[in-house]
Amino acid sequence: MCGIMGYLGEKPAAKVIIEGLKKHEYRGYDSAGLTVLDNGIFKKARAVGRVTNLEELVSRGDFAGTVGIGHTRWATHGGVTVENAHPHESSDGRVILVHNGIIENSRVVKEELQRLGIEFFTDTDTESAAQYLGYIYDGDPKSAIEKLVARIRGAFALVIMFRDRPDEIWVARKGSPLVLAHGVGETACASDPVALLSYSRAMFFMEDDEFACLTRDGITFYTFEGREIHHRPTFLDWDSSVADRGAYPHFMLKEIHEQPEVVIKTIGQRIKDSKIDLSNEIPWTAEQIKKFKKVHFVACGTSYYATLASSLLWESIGKFEIRPEVASEYRYRDIPIDKETLAIFVSQSGETADTLHAARKAKAAGATCLLITNVKGSTIDRELGLSLITQAGPEIAVAATKTFTAQLMILNLLGLYLAKLKGTLSAEQEKLFADELSQIPAKISVVLSTEKQIEKIANTYADKKGFLFIGRGFAYPSTLEGALKLKEISYMHAESYPAGEMKHGPIALLDDNLPVVAMVPKDNMWEKTVSNIEESLARRSPVIAVATEGDVSISNYTSNIIYLPATLPELYTLIAVIPLQLFAYYVARFKGCDIDKPRNLAKSVTVE
Ligand code: F6R
Repeated sequence: MCGIMGYLGEKPAAKVIIEGLKKHEYRGYDSAGLTVLDNGIFKKARAVGRVTNLEELVSRGDFAGTVGIGHTRWATHGGVTVENAHPHESSDGRVILVHNGIIENSRVVKEELQRLGIEFFTDTDTESAAQYLGYIYDGDPKSAIEKLVARIRGAFALVIMFRDRPDEIWVARKGSPLVLAHGVGETACASDPVALLSYSRAMFFMEDDEFACLTRDGITFYTFEGREIHHRPTFLDWDSSVADRGAYPHFMLKEIHEQPEVVIKTIGQRIKDSKIDLSNEIPWTAEQIKKFKKVHFVACGTSYYATLASSLLWESIGKFEIRPEVASEYRYRDIPIDKETLAIFVSQSGETADTLHAARKAKAAGATCLLITNVKGSTIDRELGLSLITQAGPEIAVAATKTFTAQLMILNLLGLYLAKLKGTLSAEQEKLFADELSQIPAKISVVLSTEKQIEKIANTYADKKGFLFIGRGFAYPSTLEGALKLKEISYMHAESYPAGEMKHGPIALLDDNLPVVAMVPKDNMWEKTVSNIEESLARRSPVIAVATEGDVSISNYTSNIIYLPATLPELYTLIAVIPLQLFAYYVARFKGCDIDKPRNLAKSVTVE
């Protein structure tokens, strides 16, 4: 997704913007550009490819100036060319802007302006906004923006400079994220708060249908109708060093290794003296909880797999009727939702367009809604007004790892807490779960210590045509996430199946070029999964077994064994996902892939 950075202060704006754009790289993009306003001149640089190309261009020119805007573009309208890269300027050169989102009526606006004799230079939808603004601007930015937002339709975060207003940046938002921060004598805006951490921890998350004027002294907010409004900042307790790779070669590896600490933070005060207590965050009484006839879990991608993994605990311990749903389906299907529905949305970014629309739908239908997110102040958080915040810190690698374990931990804590209030979790069970959950960080560390061995196995099979992941019961959801991680970062085909489904189709794929990754915990399904391992071996598929520590008999079937510490079956995925993340990472590394920024993917999917 596109990324935006704007700056107004005392520092050289081009340098600040390039640093800010680098913090947005993980979102996925194909070109980048910036403009600084210096002595009444817009100095513009744009480049296809990486932000370093833009940086190189800027280093060769004169880009003095302490106010500027920049952008990383993910092409939607118009190819990946320098001309289509932002910022876009009005023909008369009085206005320049960057945009994240899609202007749906851009064609109509463009044709209208062309009839008036205005020349267009790009294939982008964004240029229609720049040209329209240039056309109507009469020296009053506020009224021009009011007219612009009334004229364009779609989703947008716009950051605008007017040539005759060198001490102002104007921003407008409808549907695409934009965050503002004001430090001493400087003000900045960005798509991601991580890019603003060095200015202030006090962030202003722009609301839909609002615009604002940024100066060095502060920010003034307006509704789209032009009424001035006041906002309180949201304080983010993120550490700016989290956005630093340190000694790790990739953010993904760093984030995988952060998981023990992230899980400790996410548990926080939610477990105390072997008791699970979310009463400070969850307002529902036992009576209300008993009235929830159905529970919907709604999310996309990895977050969806976190809901699948936890749904097994919710149904077995909480005795809830659970329906995990992919948000892009949920928002359009005719699913019965009513006042007796508890709808839980999971989104690390809190910005995913499909999850946002699904949440609006459930809320409008009268469901009790809750969000699990890593970003306090994000759009879904603000719209639903009730969130459990994971304490994963910013996740920079596109492939989600630490946010997955944090989401899963919090979903499990919530499921157990509601089960306790509902009366389906006994005091002994609560103690058992609370103690075991508290052991999870240490057990994750044990798995991380087997990294070298996982790397060796990954290197052995990285040149195969693909992988099949299998598991049963509580061991099945981890296979979905394992296959997704591998696809995303290594571009290898990977499928996940409940092991019992093998004979119903996927067995046809098996040969010596398709290794099988079998999750085979020492539980009541062990023998059945081992039968599937035998079937795979009989068809010459190499088998990688993820087994439980102490299970020596698994070595009768394969020498590729990754051992996991034993845990409660309901908590299996919290540990089992770790070797699968490492496995995907090392396969991708062996193949020389761009691990932190895989092709075609965006970290935050804010359009449908
Ligand atoms: C996978 C991944 C994506 C996200 C999905 C939802 O590694 O990162 O599948 O999980 O796009 O994103 P959020 O959780 O921000 O709603």
